[in-house]
Formats: sequence, structure tokens, C-alpha cells
Amino acid sequence: MTNKHTQLVTDRHSTRAYLPTPVPPELLHQVLRLARLAPSGANLQPGNFIAVQGATRQALSQALVTAWRAGEQEGEDYAYFPDPLPMQLRKRQVGAARALYGALGIERADEAGRAQQFERNFRFFEAPVALLVTLEQDFGNGGYMDLGMALYGLMLGAEALGLSSCAIGALASFPRLIRNQLGLPDSSQIVCGVALGYADPNAPVNQARTTRCELDEYFRVLG
Ligand SMILES: Cc1cc2nc3c(=O)[nH]c(=O)nc-3n(C[C@H](O)[C@H](O)[C@H](O)COP(=O)(O)O)c2cc1C
Repeated sequence: MTNKHTQLVTDRHSTRAYLPTPVPPELLHQVLRLARLAPSGANLQPGNFIAVQGATRQALSQALVTAWRAGEQEGEDYAYFPDPLPMQLRKRQVGAARALYGALGIERADEAGRAQQFERNFRFFEAPVALLVTLEQDFGNGGYMDLGMALYGLMLGAEALGLSSCAIGALASFPRLIRNQLGLPDSSQIVCGVALGYADPNAPVNQARTTRCELDEYFRVLG
């Protein structure tokens, strides 16, 4: 069965190029209120969304790009990927990379081309809205679960309002730099960034589409 609600979920995809059209503050507030309707354990509603703009955003992106180009490395506030990555997950990662770089016509061996695209993470893909998502340090793992739901709520809410988005986990590689740049306390864990705005329909990168594994790979019936 398909209806406008299922269509919304099906249509959402990560968007990595945006029109310069600004997002009115009231619309951004609406998206964030929709995100906050996500359920959370005991309704604790963990986490914060910080819009980074103007000179602050410029300086943050510049510092991130400089650190990344210099090959600087920091410990992340939380481990995202299993280490080592099991082969089955590695295959999915490669599939996502193929979709992205394939849409851009960047060959696997083209390290410079890949690096150029990766660097765009640190510029929030030039989206009109750049968000930083943080979680208080003393939250347990449940906080990440709740925040994930809020993030998806944000993405679907944005989609329903004609906006597009992309989560940016790459930012979590530089938590200390980000805290320093934004004057955040040590207790603010850097979870990810989010790019938000009106999709550029003509950008090749936005033609990238990922697939999902088969139902029987993640669902089974017992009893
Ligand atoms: C928590 C999270 C972090 C992500 N980080 C990045 C990122 O740093 N850079 C990027 O280009 N895409 C990032 N993505 C987008 C994923 O690659 C994308 O969601 C996945 O490949 C599935 O594609 P889809 O969103 O188009 O359905 C992230 C997504 C999530 C949920």
C-alpha cells in the first residue's frame, strides 16, 4: 500500500547540494518542533540542535577543513563504527560510497576527487542551514537512540515541508575543535551535523540513491 505518508518516507534521501534560497527562521523552527515530537525514554528529550551561521559558521568550517587537510586526528566522543568493520557491513559501506561517487562520476582510484567531496562535509555542503547536534555527556546510550529518532523526525518533517537534509557524522571526528570554536562546554558531546535547505535538483550528487538489504537479512519470526 502506498499513500502520501509512506511516500514521504520513501522519497527522503540524503541531499548534498542545495539552492542558495534561504530557509525562513519560522520554517526552521517548525522543522525543529517536528523533530522534538519524536518519542524519547521517559520523555527526557535529550540533546540540542545548534544552528551555526554567519562568521561563526565560516570560522568553524575553515578550522575543520584546515585540520582535516593537515591530517589531524582527535578521539571521537562516541564510537560510531564497529572496529574492525565486519565484511557484511563493509559491503554496505562500499555500496553507499559507490552510489555517492558514482553519481559524481568519481572513480574508485580518484583519491583527490573523493577527498574534494569529503571536504564538503565540513562546509555543511554549502546548505543554507547548518546544524550541530550535541548530547550531554552524562547521558547513557539511550540518549543516542532518542536523538536518532529526533534526527529522523527532523528529516521527515523537513521533507514534508519541502526541504531536504543530510546528516553529517564526519563532524564527530573533531569534537574538541568544534567545542573550542563554538565555546561549548566539555560536557557537550558532538554527535553529528545536519545540512538543511532546498535541494538543488540539477546537482549530480543529488541523484545518488542507496539501496537497503533484503527483509530476511534483518527480520525473522520466531515461534
Ligand atoms: C548518523 C548519520 C551520519 C551520516 N554522516 C554522513 C556524512 O558525514 N557525510 C555524508 O555524505 N553522508 C552522511 N550520512 C548519510 C548516509 O551516508 C546515508 O544516510 C546513507 O548512505 C543512506 O542513504 P540515504 O540517506 O540517501 O537514504 C549520514 C547519515 C547518518 C544517519
